[in-house]
Amino acid sequence: MTGTPSGTRAGRRGRTKLVVANWKMNPPAIADAVSLARLEAAIDGGDVTLGIAPPVVALSAVADAIRAPSADARRVRLFAQDVHWETAGAYTGQISAAMIAGLADGSIVGHSEVRRDQGDDDARVARKAGAALRQGLYVIYCIGETLEQRARGETEAVIERQIRSGLGAIDAALLSAEGGYRFAVAYEPIWAIGTGVVATAAQASEAIATVRRELARLGLDGNAATVIYGGSVTALNCVDCATADGVDGALVGGASLKVDEFARIVAAFR
Ligand code: PGA
Repeated sequence: MTGTPSGTRAGRRGRTKLVVANWKMNPPAIADAVSLARLEAAIDGGDVTLGIAPPVVALSAVADAIRAPSADARRVRLFAQDVHWETAGAYTGQISAAMIAGLADGSIVGHSEVRRDQGDDDARVARKAGAALRQGLYVIYCIGETLEQRARGETEAVIERQIRSGLGAIDAALLSAEGGYRFAVAYEPIWAIGTGVVATAAQASEAIATVRRELARLGLDGNAATVIYGGSVTALNCVDCATADGVDGALVGGASLKVDEFARIVAAFR
């Protein structure tokens, strides 16, 4: 997945079209997760790389299902939804990046719901991202501002800080692989997650331009980094999102639990 040149838009070189299903704490039964994964893995993504991030308890079963010889899973990547920064030890309830490395291709890191529920601050998110990369995992690094921060005009500063504190703390060699980067940034404004309020194309493009600028300040090639949008993406609004300047894909929560809807979102990015 790293850096496969894709798409025809100018400046896309090195970037990946990436649409990821973030199932969050769904579905309740592992058997249902396996069924859903089989259906989503069969979506014809064309030049879009499909990702599925099931709950960690379903990772193993989903991996077996979509990697079975009969499954056409060439473009499907499996992600964990979070990792712990330590390799092993007395960390009750936690799952290390080392454990995930045998099961999945990558992990989401820094999702706002994890930041909220586990008290993750920028420093902890940076450690998680570093650990995942050291284990060879691809990282979907989530950032985004609250509604209050946007109202105060702090969106740009928040994005810059989150990029700097996380990706900026990681050795550049770890972030890169032959032909591209080993991470994607997911811009997910917190006010848009699960609320039905989607960012406008202009808001997403502006924030994503800030991401690329900050990556460049860190000495990375911002225009070669994959940056996706997340927050209330649905089949109805995905065309706006897919055509917004600089948006390489989507991190889809609620709408990714419905196969038909997820397939339409993937199609919008082809
Ligand atoms: P949503 O979630 O699509 O349900 O808003 C997106 C996310 O949290 O990744």
